Amino acid sequence: MSRSKRKIDHIRHALGHERAPYNHFDDMNIVHQSLARLDFNQITLTAEAGELKLSSPLFVNAMTGGGGEKTREINRDLAIAARETGIGMAVGSQMSAIKRPEERSTYEVVREMNPEGVVFANVGSEASLQQAEEAANMIEANALQIHINTLQELIMPEGDRDFTSRMSNIQKIVNGLDLPVVVKEVGYGMSMETAQTLYDIGVRYIDVGGRGGTNFSRVENLRREKPFSSFNNWGIPTPASILEARSSQDLHVFASGGIRHGLDGAKALVLGACGFGMAGSLLKVLMEEGREALIEEIHHIHQELKMAMMLLNASSPEELSGKPYVLTGETKAWQEQRITN
Ligand code: FNR
Repeated sequence: MSRSKRKIDHIRHALGHERAPYNHFDDMNIVHQSLARLDFNQITLTAEAGELKLSSPLFVNAMTGGGGEKTREINRDLAIAARETGIGMAVGSQMSAIKRPEERSTYEVVREMNPEGVVFANVGSEASLQQAEEAANMIEANALQIHINTLQELIMPEGDRDFTSRMSNIQKIVNGLDLPVVVKEVGYGMSMETAQTLYDIGVRYIDVGGRGGTNFSRVENLRREKPFSSFNNWGIPTPASILEARSSQDLHVFASGGIRHGLDGAKALVLGACGFGMAGSLLKVLMEEGREALIEEIHHIHQELKMAMMLLNASSPEELSGKPYVLTGETKAWQEQRITN
């Protein structure tokens, strides 16, 4: 099978796998406030995440790496939708384009289509500082994501097995790159221990990439003759992971993993995230209904977010942080057993 065909199959599997009917964001009820005091049209979505100035807390999270005309088209359309709606966008892993210059156009198109937008580069934690610089330069990135995906690698027959140099790689990139560096999971979530260790080596931005949406155990298991299905539900659900990551260090926390709409995004911000990424659900709209539908969907998510802000009297996304909420179910159990302060 050609590399580009494999990539497209991977996308189909990522979008097509069964989603659990219950999402851990359903364990969280924001407490309604009846006395609205804002003008809907004055509510701003402008957000700050450390050094990053964002016109919305929402961003398209990393997808579609590798070469081929189809992946280039997907990136072009995602970039146009990001431009038209003023949201940020992370590209998929650039590792293969660093090794194969003919694949660079898959990524370069993102900057070409969106010269003024906030764009995140993306590499794996096997990347050297030089490779990270190359990835960032390829798209004149505003920030760099380093993804960590240990379980996905372990399920992939051809995946990496030696992780001994990952921590030092991350540290070298964080110390050497002149851009914000976001360490990100891909759907397994980050614990408070992980957040602490990353903080200790100098990381100031993380994307918890929690469980609840795209599930790479399921995706990779589909390709195995004898799957490791016992790991299909491994990982920290996204709301629990935000609580974990926010429980101690002074980190800028992006939330992602299973965010379905603007209300889930608002909940992530209430829990203390500074922004939220959506991957699978946005790509699904693009693939099934096209670019205009995706633009409409993003506007709709913005409307939902503003509605939640209006109801909570938050005139900016930042003001959502710490608004009253009630947890139930597994997320409550998680909070009681894990969050001590
Ligand atoms: C991804 N994701 C991803 N992440 C990353 O850091 N580098 C990558 O190359 C990819 N590739 C990729 C391809 C496809 C088709 C999907 C759907 C996802 C993971 C993504 O950024 C995100 O962390 C997870 O998908 C969880 O978010 P959602 O999909 O539940 O919103």
